[in-house]
Amino acid sequence: MKLEALPVIQGEHNLKNYEEEYKSFDWSKAKQQFSWYESGKMNMAHEAIDRHAESDKKNKVALYYRDDKRNEKYTFKEMKELSNKAGNVLKTIGDVEKGDRVFIFMPRSPELYFSVLGAIKLGAIVGPLFEAFMEGAVTDRLADSEAKVLITTPELLDRVPADKLPHLKQILVVGENIEENDLIADFNKQMKDASKHLDVEWVEPTDGLILHYTSGSTGKPKGVLHVHNAMIQHYQTAKWVLDFKDEDVYWCTADPGWVTGTSYGIFGPWLTGTSNLIVGGRFNPESWYQMIEEYGVTVWYSAPTAFRMLMGAGDEVVKKFDLSSLRHVLSVGEPLNPEVVKWGVKVFNKRIHDTWWMTETGAQLICNYPCMEIKPGSMGKPIPGVVAAIVDDQGNELPPNRMGNLAIKKGWPSMMHTIWNNEQKYDSYFMPGDWYVSGDSAYMDEEGYFWFQGRVDDVIMTSGERVGPFEVESKLLEHPAVAEAGVIGKPDPVRGEIIKAFIALMDGHEPSDELIEEIRQFVKKGLAAHAAPREIEFREKLPKTRSGKIMRRVLKAWELDLPTGDLSTMED
Ligand code: PRX
Repeated sequence: MKLEALPVIQGEHNLKNYEEEYKSFDWSKAKQQFSWYESGKMNMAHEAIDRHAESDKKNKVALYYRDDKRNEKYTFKEMKELSNKAGNVLKTIGDVEKGDRVFIFMPRSPELYFSVLGAIKLGAIVGPLFEAFMEGAVTDRLADSEAKVLITTPELLDRVPADKLPHLKQILVVGENIEENDLIADFNKQMKDASKHLDVEWVEPTDGLILHYTSGSTGKPKGVLHVHNAMIQHYQTAKWVLDFKDEDVYWCTADPGWVTGTSYGIFGPWLTGTSNLIVGGRFNPESWYQMIEEYGVTVWYSAPTAFRMLMGAGDEVVKKFDLSSLRHVLSVGEPLNPEVVKWGVKVFNKRIHDTWWMTETGAQLICNYPCMEIKPGSMGKPIPGVVAAIVDDQGNELPPNRMGNLAIKKGWPSMMHTIWNNEQKYDSYFMPGDWYVSGDSAYMDEEGYFWFQGRVDDVIMTSGERVGPFEVESKLLEHPAVAEAGVIGKPDPVRGEIIKAFIALMDGHEPSDELIEEIRQFVKKGLAAHAAPREIEFREKLPKTRSGKIMRRVLKAWELDLPTGDLSTMED
Protein backbone atom coordinates (compact mmCIF):
# COMPACT_ATOMS: atom_id res chain seq x y z
CA MET A 1 0.00 0.00 0.00
CA LYS A 2 1.36 3.41 -0.88
CA LEU A 3 0.48 6.09 1.59
CA GLU A 4 1.22 9.76 1.61
CA ALA A 5 3.53 10.80 4.41
CA LEU A 6 1.44 12.09 7.30
CA PRO A 7 2.15 15.75 8.06
CA VAL A 8 3.80 17.24 11.10
CA ILE A 9 1.56 17.86 14.11
CA GLN A 10 1.23 21.56 14.70
CA GLY A 11 1.86 22.72 18.23
CA GLU A 12 4.52 23.29 20.82
CA HIS A 13 6.70 20.15 21.03
CA ASN A 14 9.69 19.38 23.21
CA LEU A 15 11.68 18.43 20.13
CA LYS A 16 11.10 21.36 17.83
CA ASN A 17 13.34 20.72 14.87
CA TYR A 18 14.60 17.18 14.53
CA GLU A 19 17.28 17.83 11.89
CA GLU A 20 18.78 20.75 13.81
CA GLU A 21 18.81 18.89 17.12
CA TYR A 22 20.31 15.82 15.48
CA LYS A 23 23.23 17.89 14.22
CA SER A 24 24.00 19.75 17.45
CA PHE A 25 23.12 17.38 20.29
CA ASP A 26 25.56 15.38 22.35
CA TRP A 27 24.95 13.31 25.49
CA SER A 28 27.28 15.32 27.73
CA LYS A 29 24.82 18.20 27.32
CA ALA A 30 21.96 15.96 28.49
CA LYS A 31 23.86 14.98 31.64
CA GLN A 32 24.04 18.56 32.82
CA GLN A 33 20.30 18.54 33.44
CA PHE A 34 20.72 16.22 36.41
CA SER A 35 21.34 17.17 40.02
CA TRP A 36 24.14 14.58 40.22
CA TYR A 37 26.06 16.19 37.39
CA GLU A 38 28.75 17.55 39.76
CA SER A 39 29.08 14.60 42.13
CA GLY A 40 28.60 11.81 39.58
CA LYS A 41 26.81 9.77 42.30
CA MET A 42 23.23 9.02 41.51
CA ASN A 43 20.19 6.88 42.19
CA MET A 44 17.41 6.27 39.67
CA ALA A 45 14.66 6.10 42.31
CA HIS A 46 15.77 9.40 43.85
CA GLU A 47 15.67 11.13 40.46
CA ALA A 48 12.34 9.54 39.53
CA ILE A 49 10.46 10.02 42.80
CA ASP A 50 12.19 11.73 45.71
CA ARG A 51 13.37 14.72 43.69
CA HIS A 52 9.74 15.54 42.80
CA ALA A 53 8.53 14.73 46.32
CA GLU A 54 10.86 17.47 47.54
CA SER A 55 9.68 20.00 44.94
CA ASP A 56 6.44 21.80 44.18
CA LYS A 57 5.31 18.60 42.45
CA LYS A 58 5.01 16.82 45.80
CA ASN A 59 1.22 16.75 45.76
CA LYS A 60 0.96 15.92 42.07
CA VAL A 61 -0.38 12.42 41.33
CA ALA A 62 2.53 10.15 40.35
CA LEU A 63 0.56 6.90 40.09
CA TYR A 64 -3.05 6.22 39.19
CA TYR A 65 -3.64 2.51 39.75
CA ARG A 66 -6.69 0.71 38.38
CA ASP A 67 -7.87 -2.89 38.07
CA ASP A 68 -11.11 -4.82 38.68
CA LYS A 69 -10.76 -4.48 42.44
CA ARG A 70 -8.65 -1.42 43.11
CA ASN A 71 -8.89 2.22 42.20
CA GLU A 72 -6.13 4.20 43.91
CA LYS A 73 -3.85 7.16 43.44
CA TYR A 74 -0.57 8.20 45.02
CA THR A 75 1.25 11.53 44.94
CA PHE A 76 5.01 11.84 44.51
CA LYS A 77 5.27 12.49 48.25
CA GLU A 78 3.33 9.30 49.03
CA MET A 79 5.39 7.33 46.52
CA LYS A 80 8.53 8.52 48.23
CA GLU A 81 7.32 7.38 51.64
CA LEU A 82 5.94 4.06 50.44
CA SER A 83 9.06 3.19 48.47
CA ASN A 84 11.16 4.15 51.50
CA LYS A 85 9.07 1.75 53.55
CA ALA A 86 9.52 -1.00 50.96
CA GLY A 87 13.26 -0.30 50.98
CA ASN A 88 13.31 -0.65 54.76
CA VAL A 89 11.40 -3.95 54.60
CA LEU A 90 13.88 -5.33 52.06
CA LYS A 91 16.78 -4.11 54.19
CA THR A 92 15.63 -5.39 57.55
CA ILE A 93 13.78 -8.57 56.60
CA GLY A 94 15.69 -9.49 53.43
CA ASP A 95 19.10 -8.18 54.47
CA VAL A 96 19.33 -6.57 51.03
CA GLU A 97 22.49 -4.67 50.20
CA LYS A 98 23.86 -2.90 47.16
CA GLY A 99 24.26 -5.26 44.21
CA ASP A 100 21.94 -7.99 45.58
CA ARG A 101 19.32 -9.27 43.16
CA VAL A 102 15.73 -8.68 44.25
CA PHE A 103 13.18 -10.37 42.01
CA ILE A 104 9.59 -9.31 41.70
CA PHE A 105 7.14 -11.88 40.40
CA MET A 106 3.60 -10.61 40.47
CA PRO A 107 0.85 -8.98 38.48
CA ARG A 108 0.68 -5.21 38.37
CA SER A 109 -0.28 -3.61 41.70
CA PRO A 110 0.84 -0.49 43.59
CA GLU A 111 2.99 -2.76 45.78
CA LEU A 112 4.95 -3.85 42.72
CA TYR A 113 5.95 -0.24 42.08
CA PHE A 114 6.78 0.51 45.75
CA SER A 115 9.00 -2.61 45.75
CA VAL A 116 10.84 -1.83 42.52
CA LEU A 117 11.62 1.68 43.73
CA GLY A 118 12.48 0.56 47.27
CA ALA A 119 14.95 -2.03 45.99
CA ILE A 120 16.56 0.51 43.66
CA LYS A 121 16.95 2.94 46.56
CA LEU A 122 19.10 0.32 48.31
CA GLY A 123 21.28 -0.04 45.20
CA ALA A 124 19.89 -3.54 44.61
CA ILE A 125 19.35 -4.93 41.11
CA VAL A 126 15.68 -5.53 40.34
CA GLY A 127 14.59 -8.56 38.31
CA PRO A 128 10.97 -8.24 37.18
CA LEU A 129 9.26 -11.49 36.14
CA PHE A 130 6.12 -11.62 34.02
CA GLU A 131 3.25 -13.14 36.02
CA ALA A 132 2.55 -15.78 33.35
CA PHE A 133 5.86 -17.56 33.93
CA MET A 134 5.54 -21.10 35.24
CA GLU A 135 7.92 -23.01 37.45
CA GLY A 136 10.54 -23.85 34.81
CA ALA A 137 10.87 -20.29 33.58
CA VAL A 138 10.91 -18.85 37.12
CA THR A 139 13.55 -21.33 38.31
CA ASP A 140 15.90 -20.64 35.38
CA ARG A 141 15.85 -16.92 36.02
CA LEU A 142 16.16 -17.02 39.81
CA ALA A 143 18.99 -19.56 39.58
CA ASP A 144 20.99 -17.74 36.90
CA SER A 145 20.77 -14.41 38.72
CA GLU A 146 21.29 -15.97 42.17
CA ALA A 147 18.41 -13.89 43.45
CA LYS A 148 18.49 -13.31 47.20
CA VAL A 149 14.97 -12.01 47.77
CA LEU A 150 11.72 -12.58 45.90
CA ILE A 151 8.51 -10.60 46.20
CA THR A 152 5.43 -12.45 44.99
CA THR A 153 1.77 -13.22 45.69
CA PRO A 154 0.12 -16.26 47.34
CA GLU A 155 -1.26 -17.35 43.93
CA LEU A 156 2.20 -17.50 42.34
CA LEU A 157 4.11 -18.88 45.31
CA ASP A 158 3.83 -22.55 44.35
CA ARG A 159 5.69 -21.84 41.10
CA VAL A 160 8.76 -20.98 43.17
CA PRO A 161 10.72 -24.12 44.16
CA ALA A 162 12.68 -22.49 47.00
CA ASP A 163 14.38 -25.81 47.89
CA LYS A 164 16.09 -25.81 44.47
CA LEU A 165 17.32 -22.23 44.87
CA PRO A 166 20.12 -22.13 47.46
CA HIS A 167 20.70 -18.37 47.04
CA LEU A 168 17.09 -17.44 47.73
CA LYS A 169 17.02 -16.36 51.38
CA GLN A 170 13.71 -14.55 51.72
CA ILE A 171 10.30 -14.47 50.08
CA LEU A 172 7.97 -11.54 50.76
CA VAL A 173 4.37 -12.35 49.96
CA VAL A 174 1.88 -9.63 49.08
CA GLY A 175 -1.57 -10.83 50.10
CA GLU A 176 -3.87 -11.57 52.99
CA ASN A 177 -3.44 -13.98 55.94
CA ILE A 178 0.16 -14.81 55.10
CA GLU A 179 1.67 -17.35 57.46
CA GLU A 180 5.21 -16.27 58.22
CA ASN A 181 8.14 -18.61 58.74
CA ASP A 182 11.94 -18.57 58.28
CA LEU A 183 11.62 -18.12 54.54
CA ILE A 184 8.33 -16.30 54.13
CA ALA A 185 7.30 -12.88 55.42
CA ASP A 186 4.07 -10.93 55.04
CA PHE A 187 4.88 -7.89 52.89
CA ASN A 188 1.92 -5.75 53.95
CA LYS A 189 2.40 -6.44 57.64
CA GLN A 190 6.08 -5.55 57.40
CA MET A 191 5.22 -2.39 55.43
CA LYS A 192 2.92 -1.20 58.24
CA ASP A 193 5.72 -1.35 60.78
CA ALA A 194 8.47 -0.01 58.51
CA SER A 195 9.87 3.51 58.84
CA LYS A 196 9.14 5.98 56.07
CA HIS A 197 12.65 7.37 56.30
CA LEU A 198 15.43 5.76 54.34
CA ASP A 199 18.94 6.80 53.36
CA VAL A 200 19.23 6.32 49.64
CA GLU A 201 22.33 4.47 48.43
CA TRP A 202 24.27 6.71 46.03
CA VAL A 203 25.75 4.63 43.24
CA GLU A 204 28.09 4.94 40.27
CA PRO A 205 26.62 5.43 36.79
CA THR A 206 27.64 1.87 35.86
CA ASP A 207 26.16 0.17 38.93
CA GLY A 208 23.39 -2.35 38.26
CA LEU A 209 19.76 -1.22 38.17
CA ILE A 210 17.59 -3.81 36.47
CA LEU A 211 17.97 -7.28 35.01
CA HIS A 212 15.55 -8.23 32.21
CA TYR A 213 15.67 -11.80 30.94
CA THR A 214 15.06 -12.03 27.22
CA SER A 215 15.21 -14.66 24.51
CA GLY A 216 17.60 -15.26 21.65
CA SER A 217 17.49 -18.02 19.05
CA THR A 218 19.83 -20.31 20.97
CA GLY A 219 20.32 -21.13 24.63
CA LYS A 220 18.34 -20.25 27.72
CA PRO A 221 17.02 -16.72 28.23
CA LYS A 222 19.79 -14.28 28.99
CA GLY A 223 19.90 -11.63 31.67
CA VAL A 224 20.32 -8.18 30.15
CA LEU A 225 21.77 -5.88 32.81
CA HIS A 226 20.98 -2.18 32.74
CA VAL A 227 22.62 0.45 34.92
CA HIS A 228 21.65 3.75 36.54
CA ASN A 229 23.30 5.78 33.78
CA ALA A 230 20.41 4.74 31.50
CA MET A 231 18.32 7.46 33.16
CA ILE A 232 19.92 10.07 30.91
CA GLN A 233 18.31 8.48 27.88
CA HIS A 234 15.06 7.54 29.61
CA TYR A 235 14.64 11.19 30.55
CA GLN A 236 15.69 12.59 27.19
CA THR A 237 13.48 10.26 25.14
CA ALA A 238 10.54 10.84 27.47
CA LYS A 239 10.88 14.50 26.48
CA TRP A 240 11.63 14.12 22.76
CA VAL A 241 9.64 11.04 21.81
CA LEU A 242 6.83 10.75 24.38
CA ASP A 243 6.76 14.56 24.28
CA PHE A 244 5.72 14.87 27.95
CA LYS A 245 4.41 18.14 29.27
CA ASP A 246 3.56 19.03 32.82
CA GLU A 247 -0.19 18.45 32.55
CA ASP A 248 0.00 15.06 30.79
CA VAL A 249 -1.68 11.86 31.97
CA TYR A 250 0.27 9.00 30.48
CA TRP A 251 -0.69 5.38 29.95
CA CYS A 252 1.82 2.72 28.94
CA THR A 253 0.02 -0.58 28.49
CA ALA A 254 3.11 -2.81 28.84
CA ASP A 255 3.70 -5.05 31.85
CA PRO A 256 6.87 -4.31 33.86
CA GLY A 257 7.92 -7.93 33.28
CA TRP A 258 9.05 -6.61 29.87
CA VAL A 259 11.42 -3.74 29.21
CA THR A 260 8.78 -1.33 27.89
CA GLY A 261 6.94 -1.65 31.21
CA THR A 262 10.02 -0.49 33.13
CA SER A 263 11.90 1.94 30.85
CA TYR A 264 8.65 3.64 29.83
CA GLY A 265 6.22 2.31 32.46
CA ILE A 266 8.36 3.51 35.39
CA PHE A 267 11.54 5.43 34.58
CA GLY A 268 10.64 7.66 31.61
CA PRO A 269 7.39 9.04 33.03
CA TRP A 270 8.61 9.56 36.58
CA LEU A 271 12.00 11.02 35.70
CA THR A 272 10.01 13.74 33.94
CA GLY A 273 7.51 14.06 36.83
CA THR A 274 4.58 12.86 34.72
CA SER A 275 1.33 11.38 36.10
CA ASN A 276 1.42 7.70 35.23
CA LEU A 277 -1.65 5.48 34.82
CA ILE A 278 -1.16 1.77 35.46
CA VAL A 279 -4.00 -0.55 34.52
CA GLY A 280 -3.96 -4.16 35.72
CA GLY A 281 -6.02 -7.05 34.38
CA ARG A 282 -6.67 -8.34 30.91
CA PHE A 283 -7.06 -6.65 27.56
CA ASN A 284 -10.59 -5.65 26.62
CA PRO A 285 -11.39 -3.01 23.99
CA GLU A 286 -14.26 -1.37 25.90
CA SER A 287 -12.43 -1.08 29.19
CA TRP A 288 -9.31 0.21 27.44
CA TYR A 289 -11.24 3.06 25.81
CA GLN A 290 -13.01 3.58 29.11
CA MET A 291 -9.64 4.17 30.80
CA ILE A 292 -8.66 6.83 28.28
CA GLU A 293 -11.96 8.63 28.77
CA GLU A 294 -12.06 8.36 32.54
CA TYR A 295 -8.49 9.44 33.24
CA GLY A 296 -8.27 11.88 30.36
CA VAL A 297 -5.20 10.09 29.03
CA THR A 298 -3.16 12.43 26.83
CA VAL A 299 -0.13 10.28 25.90
CA TRP A 300 -0.69 6.61 25.13
CA TYR A 301 2.07 4.06 24.45
CA SER A 302 0.97 0.61 23.29
CA ALA A 303 1.82 -2.13 20.79
CA PRO A 304 0.79 -3.20 17.28
CA THR A 305 -1.01 -6.36 18.45
CA ALA A 306 -3.16 -4.30 20.81
CA PHE A 307 -3.92 -1.74 18.10
CA ARG A 308 -4.82 -4.53 15.67
CA MET A 309 -7.15 -6.07 18.27
CA LEU A 310 -8.79 -2.70 18.84
CA MET A 311 -9.13 -2.29 15.09
CA GLY A 312 -10.71 -5.76 14.97
CA ALA A 313 -13.23 -4.78 17.65
CA GLY A 314 -14.65 -2.25 15.19
CA ASP A 315 -15.04 1.50 14.88
CA GLU A 316 -18.46 1.49 16.55
CA VAL A 317 -16.85 0.70 19.90
CA VAL A 318 -14.57 3.72 19.59
CA LYS A 319 -17.53 6.01 19.04
CA LYS A 320 -19.07 5.10 22.41
CA PHE A 321 -16.23 6.88 24.22
CA ASP A 322 -14.89 10.40 24.43
CA LEU A 323 -11.24 10.03 23.50
CA SER A 324 -10.68 13.71 22.82
CA SER A 325 -8.07 13.98 25.58
CA LEU A 326 -5.56 11.97 23.48
CA ARG A 327 -2.77 14.15 22.18
CA HIS A 328 -0.02 11.70 21.29
CA VAL A 329 -0.15 7.96 20.49
CA LEU A 330 2.87 5.66 20.18
CA SER A 331 3.67 2.05 19.45
CA VAL A 332 6.55 -0.38 20.00
CA GLY A 333 7.54 -4.00 19.85
CA GLU A 334 6.67 -5.24 16.38
CA PRO A 335 6.19 -3.83 12.92
CA LEU A 336 3.34 -1.34 12.88
CA ASN A 337 1.36 -1.93 9.70
CA PRO A 338 0.49 1.09 7.55
CA GLU A 339 -3.20 -0.01 7.69
CA VAL A 340 -3.11 0.41 11.45
CA VAL A 341 -1.59 3.88 11.19
CA LYS A 342 -4.29 4.81 8.70
CA TRP A 343 -6.97 3.43 11.01
CA GLY A 344 -5.53 5.48 13.90
CA VAL A 345 -5.91 8.64 11.86
CA LYS A 346 -9.49 7.71 11.02
CA VAL A 347 -10.77 6.80 14.48
CA PHE A 348 -8.57 8.81 16.89
CA ASN A 349 -7.67 11.55 14.46
CA LYS A 350 -4.09 10.85 15.60
CA ARG A 351 -1.00 9.52 13.91
CA ILE A 352 0.37 6.46 15.73
CA HIS A 353 4.11 7.04 16.19
CA ASP A 354 6.18 3.90 15.76
CA THR A 355 9.30 3.53 17.92
CA TRP A 356 12.04 0.93 17.59
CA TRP A 357 14.30 -0.41 20.29
CA MET A 358 15.08 -3.64 22.18
CA THR A 359 15.57 -5.02 25.66
CA GLU A 360 19.31 -4.76 25.07
CA THR A 361 19.21 -1.11 23.99
CA GLY A 362 17.38 -0.09 27.19
CA ALA A 363 15.57 2.82 25.58
CA GLN A 364 14.17 4.09 22.29
CA LEU A 365 16.65 4.49 19.43
CA ILE A 366 14.74 4.94 16.16
CA CYS A 367 11.48 6.83 16.34
CA ASN A 368 8.83 9.02 14.80
CA TYR A 369 8.57 12.42 16.49
CA PRO A 370 5.58 14.74 16.69
CA CYS A 371 7.63 17.40 14.90
CA MET A 372 8.29 15.31 11.80
CA GLU A 373 6.42 13.74 8.92
CA ILE A 374 5.50 10.08 9.37
CA LYS A 375 5.87 7.58 6.57
CA PRO A 376 3.44 4.82 7.59
CA GLY A 377 5.33 1.53 7.88
CA SER A 378 8.64 3.17 8.75
CA MET A 379 10.15 3.07 12.25
CA GLY A 380 11.37 6.64 11.80
CA LYS A 381 14.82 8.16 12.34
CA PRO A 382 17.46 7.73 15.05
CA ILE A 383 17.18 9.94 18.11
CA PRO A 384 19.72 12.76 18.38
CA GLY A 385 22.94 11.36 19.85
CA VAL A 386 22.49 7.99 18.15
CA VAL A 387 24.07 6.82 14.89
CA ALA A 388 22.16 4.04 13.12
CA ALA A 389 23.14 2.35 9.88
CA ILE A 390 22.56 -0.67 7.70
CA VAL A 391 25.71 -2.78 7.56
CA ASP A 392 26.75 -5.96 5.78
CA ASP A 393 28.03 -9.02 7.66
CA GLN A 394 31.52 -7.49 7.86
CA GLY A 395 30.34 -4.23 9.38
CA ASN A 396 30.58 -2.14 6.17
CA GLU A 397 27.90 0.53 5.84
CA LEU A 398 25.48 -0.04 2.97
CA PRO A 399 23.99 2.73 0.81
CA PRO A 400 20.30 3.71 1.05
CA ASN A 401 17.65 1.19 -0.02
CA ARG A 402 19.93 -1.82 0.49
CA MET A 403 18.71 -4.40 2.97
CA GLY A 404 21.16 -5.49 5.68
CA ASN A 405 21.78 -5.63 9.43
CA LEU A 406 20.33 -2.80 11.45
CA ALA A 407 23.27 -1.62 13.54
CA ILE A 408 23.89 1.14 16.09
CA LYS A 409 27.20 2.81 16.86
CA LYS A 410 28.20 1.94 20.43
CA GLY A 411 27.96 4.67 23.06
CA TRP A 412 24.35 5.56 23.83
CA PRO A 413 23.67 5.94 27.59
CA SER A 414 21.00 3.24 28.07
CA MET A 415 22.94 0.48 26.31
CA MET A 416 23.01 -2.80 28.28
CA HIS A 417 26.05 -3.06 30.54
CA THR A 418 26.52 -6.81 30.22
CA ILE A 419 24.78 -10.15 29.89
CA TRP A 420 24.59 -11.63 33.36
CA ASN A 421 27.13 -14.45 33.81
CA ASN A 422 27.85 -14.48 30.08
CA GLU A 423 30.44 -11.98 28.87
CA GLN A 424 30.92 -14.00 25.68
CA LYS A 425 27.31 -13.59 24.70
CA TYR A 426 27.65 -9.84 25.27
CA ASP A 427 30.68 -9.70 22.95
CA SER A 428 28.78 -11.56 20.25
CA TYR A 429 26.51 -8.52 19.74
CA PHE A 430 29.32 -6.43 18.23
CA MET A 431 30.94 -6.15 14.81
CA PRO A 432 34.13 -4.36 13.76
CA GLY A 433 33.65 -0.61 13.67
CA ASP A 434 32.00 -0.56 17.13
CA TRP A 435 28.64 -1.55 15.69
CA TYR A 436 26.03 -3.07 17.97
CA VAL A 437 24.14 -5.51 15.74
CA SER A 438 20.46 -5.74 16.54
CA GLY A 439 19.54 -9.02 14.84
CA ASP A 440 16.93 -7.15 12.79
CA SER A 441 17.20 -6.66 9.06
CA ALA A 442 16.12 -3.32 7.65
CA TYR A 443 16.91 -0.71 5.04
CA MET A 444 17.20 3.06 5.13
CA ASP A 445 15.63 5.25 2.46
CA GLU A 446 17.23 8.34 0.88
CA GLU A 447 15.64 10.58 3.47
CA GLY A 448 17.08 8.63 6.40
CA TYR A 449 13.90 6.78 7.44
CA PHE A 450 14.44 3.16 8.59
CA TRP A 451 12.18 0.33 7.42
CA PHE A 452 12.00 -2.96 9.36
CA GLN A 453 12.20 -6.12 7.24
CA GLY A 454 12.42 -9.01 9.72
CA ARG A 455 14.61 -10.82 12.20
CA VAL A 456 17.92 -12.19 10.98
CA ASP A 457 17.70 -15.02 13.54
CA ASP A 458 14.83 -17.30 14.55
CA VAL A 459 13.52 -15.18 17.43
CA ILE A 460 9.71 -15.12 17.47
CA MET A 461 7.65 -12.00 18.23
CA THR A 462 4.16 -13.11 19.20
CA SER A 463 1.71 -10.46 20.40
CA GLY A 464 4.74 -8.27 20.99
CA GLU A 465 6.35 -10.83 23.27
CA ARG A 466 9.78 -12.12 22.42
CA VAL A 467 10.05 -15.90 22.55
CA GLY A 468 13.16 -17.96 21.90
CA PRO A 469 12.43 -21.11 19.87
CA PHE A 470 15.13 -23.00 21.74
CA GLU A 471 13.38 -22.56 25.07
CA VAL A 472 10.11 -23.89 23.68
CA GLU A 473 11.85 -26.78 21.90
CA SER A 474 13.66 -27.74 25.13
CA LYS A 475 10.38 -27.82 27.01
CA LEU A 476 8.70 -29.86 24.26
CA LEU A 477 11.51 -32.42 24.43
CA GLU A 478 10.74 -32.96 28.12
CA HIS A 479 7.36 -34.38 27.12
CA PRO A 480 7.55 -38.21 27.06
CA ALA A 481 5.93 -38.52 23.61
CA VAL A 482 8.23 -36.02 21.88
CA ALA A 483 11.37 -37.27 20.12
CA GLU A 484 12.27 -34.15 18.10
CA ALA A 485 10.88 -30.64 18.04
CA GLY A 486 11.43 -27.59 15.86
CA VAL A 487 9.69 -24.29 16.55
CA ILE A 488 9.10 -21.35 14.20
CA GLY A 489 7.15 -18.10 14.08
CA LYS A 490 4.28 -18.25 11.58
CA PRO A 491 2.96 -14.91 10.28
CA ASP A 492 -0.42 -14.00 11.77
CA PRO A 493 -2.56 -10.98 10.88
CA VAL A 494 -3.36 -10.03 14.49
CA ARG A 495 -0.50 -11.33 16.64
CA GLY A 496 2.32 -10.60 14.21
CA GLU A 497 3.50 -14.17 14.54
CA ILE A 498 2.18 -17.26 16.27
CA ILE A 499 4.30 -20.13 17.55
CA LYS A 500 4.17 -23.27 15.45
CA ALA A 501 5.87 -26.51 16.53
CA PHE A 502 6.86 -29.38 14.28
CA ILE A 503 7.16 -32.59 16.27
CA ALA A 504 8.43 -36.08 15.56
CA LEU A 505 6.98 -38.56 18.06
CA MET A 506 8.71 -41.31 20.01
CA ASP A 507 7.99 -44.87 18.89
CA GLY A 508 4.74 -46.09 20.35
CA HIS A 509 2.98 -42.68 20.20
CA GLU A 510 0.42 -41.75 17.58
CA PRO A 511 -0.63 -38.24 16.49
CA SER A 512 -4.04 -37.17 17.84
CA ASP A 513 -5.94 -34.03 18.80
CA GLU A 514 -5.76 -35.11 22.44
CA LEU A 515 -1.99 -35.37 22.23
CA ILE A 516 -1.76 -31.91 20.64
CA GLU A 517 -3.77 -30.46 23.51
CA GLU A 518 -1.75 -32.36 26.09
CA ILE A 519 1.53 -31.07 24.64
CA ARG A 520 0.21 -27.51 24.48
CA GLN A 521 -0.83 -27.68 28.14
CA PHE A 522 2.55 -29.16 29.02
CA VAL A 523 4.36 -26.09 27.66
CA LYS A 524 1.77 -23.74 29.11
CA LYS A 525 2.17 -25.17 32.60
CA GLY A 526 5.93 -25.69 32.39
CA LEU A 527 6.98 -22.44 30.73
CA ALA A 528 4.32 -19.82 30.11
CA ALA A 529 1.01 -19.47 28.30
CA HIS A 530 2.42 -17.11 25.68
CA ALA A 531 5.20 -19.63 24.89
CA ALA A 532 2.82 -22.54 24.14
CA PRO A 533 2.58 -23.37 20.40
CA ARG A 534 -0.77 -22.39 18.91
CA GLU A 535 -0.20 -24.89 16.14
CA ILE A 536 1.41 -28.31 16.31
CA GLU A 537 2.16 -30.45 13.29
CA PHE A 538 3.47 -34.02 13.52
CA ARG A 539 6.08 -35.24 11.06
CA GLU A 540 7.87 -38.58 10.72
CA LYS A 541 11.24 -36.80 10.83
CA LEU A 542 12.47 -33.23 11.09
CA PRO A 543 15.10 -31.66 8.82
CA LYS A 544 18.46 -31.65 10.60
CA THR A 545 22.02 -30.69 9.84
CA ARG A 546 24.61 -33.45 9.92
CA SER A 547 25.57 -32.26 13.37
CA GLY A 548 21.98 -32.86 14.49
CA LYS A 549 20.70 -29.27 14.66
CA ILE A 550 17.06 -28.84 13.65
CA MET A 551 16.90 -26.62 10.55
CA ARG A 552 14.19 -24.13 11.42
CA ARG A 553 14.82 -22.34 8.14
CA VAL A 554 13.58 -25.43 6.28
CA LEU A 555 10.54 -25.78 8.56
CA LYS A 556 9.67 -22.18 7.83
CA ALA A 557 10.04 -22.73 4.10
CA TRP A 558 7.72 -25.76 4.31
CA GLU A 559 5.19 -23.75 6.22
CA LEU A 560 5.23 -20.76 3.89
CA ASP A 561 5.66 -22.68 0.65
CA LEU A 562 8.97 -20.99 -0.03
CA PRO A 563 12.08 -22.40 -1.65
CA THR A 564 14.11 -24.27 1.00
CA GLY A 565 17.43 -22.78 -0.11
CA ASP A 566 20.79 -24.45 0.36
CA LEU A 567 20.34 -27.96 1.79
CA SER A 568 23.96 -29.07 1.55
CA THR A 569 24.35 -29.34 5.32
CA MET A 570 21.20 -31.41 5.76
CA GLU A 571 21.53 -35.07 6.75
CA ASP A 572 20.37 -37.56 4.10
O1 PRX B 1 12.58 -7.41 16.10
C1 PRX B 1 12.50 -6.17 16.76
C2 PRX B 1 11.14 -6.02 17.44
O2 PRX B 1 11.31 -6.43 18.76
C3 PRX B 1 12.66 -6.85 18.98
C4 PRX B 1 13.06 -6.53 20.39
O3 PRX B 1 12.23 -7.22 21.27
P1 PRX B 1 12.28 -6.92 22.82
O4 PRX B 1 13.69 -6.99 23.28
O5 PRX B 1 11.31 -7.83 23.47
O6 PRX B 1 11.83 -5.43 22.97
C5 PRX B 1 10.57 -5.02 22.55
C6 PRX B 1 10.21 -3.65 23.05
C7 PRX B 1 11.30 -2.68 23.20
C8 PRX B 1 13.45 -6.12 17.92
O7 PRX B 1 14.69 -6.74 17.68
N1 PRX B 1 10.71 -4.62 17.41
C9 PRX B 1 10.73 -3.73 18.42
N2 PRX B 1 10.21 -2.55 18.01
C10 PRX B 1 9.86 -2.69 16.71
C11 PRX B 1 10.20 -4.02 16.33
N3 PRX B 1 9.99 -4.46 15.09
C12 PRX B 1 9.46 -3.62 14.18
N4 PRX B 1 9.11 -2.35 14.48
C13 PRX B 1 9.29 -1.84 15.72
N5 PRX B 1 8.95 -0.60 16.01
